[in-house]
Amino acid sequence: MKLRQLGDVQVGAIGLGAMPMSIEGRPDEARSLATIHAALDAGVTLIDTADAYHLYAGEVGHNESLIAKCLASYGGDTSHVIVATKGGHLRPGDGSWTANGSPAYLKSACEASRKRLGVEAIGLYQFHRPDPNVPYAESVGALRDLLDEGKILRAGISNATVAQIREANEVLGGRLVSVQNQYSPAFRSSEPELELCHEMGIAFLPWSPLGGISRAGELGSRHAAFAEIAKAHGVSPQRVCLAWMLAKSPVVIPIPGASRPESIRDSAQAPELSLSADEVATLDAA
Ligand SMILES: NC(=O)c1ccc[n+]([C@@H]2O[C@H](COP(=O)([O-])OP(=O)(O)OC[C@H]3O[C@@H](n4cnc5c(N)ncnc54)[C@H](OP(=O)(O)O)[C@@H]3O)[C@@H](O)[C@H]2O)c1
Repeated sequence: MKLRQLGDVQVGAIGLGAMPMSIEGRPDEARSLATIHAALDAGVTLIDTADAYHLYAGEVGHNESLIAKCLASYGGDTSHVIVATKGGHLRPGDGSWTANGSPAYLKSACEASRKRLGVEAIGLYQFHRPDPNVPYAESVGALRDLLDEGKILRAGISNATVAQIREANEVLGGRLVSVQNQYSPAFRSSEPELELCHEMGIAFLPWSPLGGISRAGELGSRHAAFAEIAKAHGVSPQRVCLAWMLAKSPVVIPIPGASRPESIRDSAQAPELSLSADEVATLDAA
């Protein structure tokens, strides 16, 4: 797979979003294993997760543990695979999502993630979502300390505004490597953050790039231009969507979710699909 820059390392231009394998509607473990192994076979070297990707209160880190197990059982070398996890967002188990961005909490959450992933240092640790009750610089300060202590190799943020991206990079002393924001054909309001990442050379990881778990299958029926261009190329509208994002900037690394091997196999071919400037302009305007 073609590669893209994530801080000091290169990763496959398409990552795997592992969330669908641990939340509502998740598959059995055998299918998750097949999905993650299919991703690795296809050249995926960035797997996105979070400690909050679980269903019930007593299984925090379900997704991290699942990924660690799948990497351990993969036949090939996985030493170059970056598992990007997150802290600061919680699921109490009643279906809701809450926030805790206090530095002490983030440091303890990172420690727990490190143990579940079975690593000395986490490849990419992302502050999941701003906590309105904690000054942003204090939350990001925890990531700076974790970097300095060698507990994490790289720091990222998620669900951030333009001002927060600048603030985080300052707090981290210029070491912010990624921003993960929602971005899809139906949700384009993160374009200012994408443009800033382009200017600053920071990786931009669109989340729910296909519209989210429940809508991804309908991308073509919801967005006719994607379906038409897909038909012309003989590929899926989802693949066109990912190729369109990749064409927007070299800093973009989409992380489409999957719970079936065939989904990630299809998505992983997006870097090979070249869209013309006219096609990109049509999709931009669609
Ligand atoms: N930072 C945040 O706050 C945040 C929030 C949400 C998500 N995320 C991250 O972003 C990742 C992606 O978002 P998402 O999983 O919510 O939504 P998504 O990527 O827009 O859609 C995921 C769904 O797309 C389907 N799919 C994937 N590739 C396909 C293809 N080529 N053709 C047809 N269908 C395809 C998959 O179906 P199957 O399940 O049938 O394989 C999967 O369930 C998550 O997994 C998570 O890691 C982060």
